[in-house]
Amino acid sequence: MTQAADPLDPAERLDLDGLRALQLERLRNSLRHAYENVPFYRESFDKAGVHPDDCRSLSDLSRFPFTTKADLRANYPYGMFAVPQERIRRLHASSGTTGRPTVVGYTENDLSMWADMVARSLRAAGGRPGDIAHIAYGYGLFTGGLGAHYGAERLGCTVIPASGGMTSRQVTLIQDLNPSVIMVTPSYMLTLLDEFERQGVDPRSTSLRVGVFGAEPWTQDMRREIEERFAIDAVDIYGLSEVIGPGVAQECVETKDGLHIWEDHFFPEVVDPITGEVLPEGEQGELVFTSLTKEAMPIVRYRTRDLTRLLPGTARVFRRMEKVTGRSDDMVILRGVNLFPTQIEEIVLRTPGVAPHFQLRLTTSGRMDALTVRAEARPDADAATREAAARSIVQAVKDGIGVSVEAEIVDPESLERSVGKIRRIVDLRERRD
Ligand code: DLL
Repeated sequence: MTQAADPLDPAERLDLDGLRALQLERLRNSLRHAYENVPFYRESFDKAGVHPDDCRSLSDLSRFPFTTKADLRANYPYGMFAVPQERIRRLHASSGTTGRPTVVGYTENDLSMWADMVARSLRAAGGRPGDIAHIAYGYGLFTGGLGAHYGAERLGCTVIPASGGMTSRQVTLIQDLNPSVIMVTPSYMLTLLDEFERQGVDPRSTSLRVGVFGAEPWTQDMRREIEERFAIDAVDIYGLSEVIGPGVAQECVETKDGLHIWEDHFFPEVVDPITGEVLPEGEQGELVFTSLTKEAMPIVRYRTRDLTRLLPGTARVFRRMEKVTGRSDDMVILRGVNLFPTQIEEIVLRTPGVAPHFQLRLTTSGRMDALTVRAEARPDADAATREAAARSIVQAVKDGIGVSVEAEIVDPESLERSVGKIRRIVDLRERRD
């Protein structure tokens, strides 16, 4: 059979029993590999009184201890590696806004598996061999650019390695080289949108057919905005450096109903963020991953801090994760009410007269924290529209989230633009400690 007629790979064609059997075999091997080759895992398993041989069913995984970002930091830079340095072909590092970055490593086989997973993702997104793929995720230590790059090549695409930045040139490249696929953060896609408009080019007129957006949370409203403004399909790709990079989970273009986790390589659990207890399918909690095939840096029950729920498979046998609503680190607690930037994104995108650019400014007001939603006016919005928009945002936050905030509608193009992952929260609170 030719690739085009049946391009799904064998694991995508397994039935559920076949998948679970494959996962168990791989899980047992991976736990053993971690235990035998990484002192950190040997100590933490021993301390918890578990041994890889105790894993007889997939649910036994819950007896094993979690791994956190702090554990990776404590073992910086190479302490979590399970193979000698000569077998490591590449290093990446996670962005890490605070403290030391986390270094991750890949063997030849890891790089190949990663390229396969991104190729599988891109195919699920609607990409096909022969497509031209414009990659505007940043190249470098960040996994986005190189991860997308090798996956697109693996699928058989022609790759434009644009990386992030030099925004006006990106528009020229898209117009001249006719890519059908773009891979970029959703926030940088909006920066590109502005640039198309500045250059007087209709963004709906390009050759782009599909956008594969990830590396940061984005909402269904943002999907509608991007699809409408560019006349493309917009689908979600998820991943994190500690697990591999982009290509851990991907939304299928035909269903757009959450992201299928490539769980033949990355085993998911959702746990209660406070108690750590494994939650049943459908319940919201913190996503936890265990790698099943990684050689250089096996990871056991890694706490991602990303909040989502697991759902049964649809377009693929693999379970889905709902779009990530936010990270526990991005949650703002305002006078006892929990609030995520994605909730504000939904409100801003539904407000007439306001562009999809916003920022959340946290300040101290007396002994209380205060939050101002700063959103940009659309160029054609007059003073009355702006005032109505500010009132409407305040009201929608009060009604929908249950907390009082202020809203400020700022001039078009006055908020900082993203070239990669956007920073939504500007924290100007006085420290009280
Ligand atoms: O952001 C890998 C990636 C690159 C994914 C390009 C998709 C596309 P890190 O820099 O390690 O890796 O950041 C990982 O980003 O834990 C989430 O909080 C967030 N994130 C990634 N993808 C999504 C997504 C890359 N689709 C962290 N939706 C993760 C929401 C996402 N958040």
